[in-house]
Amino acid sequence: MIGPVGRIKSGAAVRAVVGQDYRRAMAALVSHLLDLADEAATTALARRIAALCRAGDVLALDGDFGTGKTTFARAFIRARCTAAEDVPSPTFTLVQVYPAAEEGDAAVYHFDLFRLRTADEALDLGIEDAFAEGISLIEWPQRLGPLLPPYRLDLAFRFGSSPGSRTLTLSASGGDFLARLKEAGVV
Ligand SMILES: Nc1ncnc2c1ncn2[C@@H]1O[C@H](COP(=O)(O)OP(=O)(O)OP(=O)(O)O)[C@@H](O)[C@H]1O
Ligand SMILES: [Mg+2]
Repeated sequence: MIGPVGRIKSGAAVRAVVGQDYRRAMAALVSHLLDLADEAATTALARRIAALCRAGDVLALDGDFGTGKTTFARAFIRARCTAAEDVPSPTFTLVQVYPAAEEGDAAVYHFDLFRLRTADEALDLGIEDAFAEGISLIEWPQRLGPLLPPYRLDLAFRFGSSPGSRTLTLSASGGDFLARLKEAGVV
């Protein structure tokens, strides 16, 4: 008796796991398109997303020159970090690190990888520490190739229909980002 019952249970367990994986995979495919009518909308969204981030989160900021990646990162950093009055674009340094305002909170690593020549060069920038214990904001994330973590929030900025507007597509691959965004009413 024990054998067959055990097998039935494990069969059900396998189906449950497959179901969970399927749901996770489907969630990863869902993208949310947001309208950022002006710069204030971009900075307000950055502050809301900053409030729901924690150590280990990776945000990949994709988009052409001038679409608002640094504008988003600057507002995000100002919302979470001390000494963040001045948040320069890390165009030449490739990374800037900002300690959290709250004791014990994660530092924010702001990367601009446009000038990265090979993905391996990013190891010298401290990406391992950033991914393990910091919050990473990465402009030009595709430069990381296979080093880009699979569990991340993708933010794709595009020019909108007027000079001051942008659109943003949010998609969460893995992790519980989507649940956090929904709970906060962002999507
Ligand atoms: N809705 C908007 N959201 C964000 N920025 C906007 C918006 N409308 C206008 N802007 C302007 O667009 C510019 C965005 O520049 P920003 O440096 O943030 O772009 P970027 O994506 O980081 O570019 P790069 O790839 O060169 O680093 C700023 O001058 C900002 O004032
Ligand atoms: Mg930039």
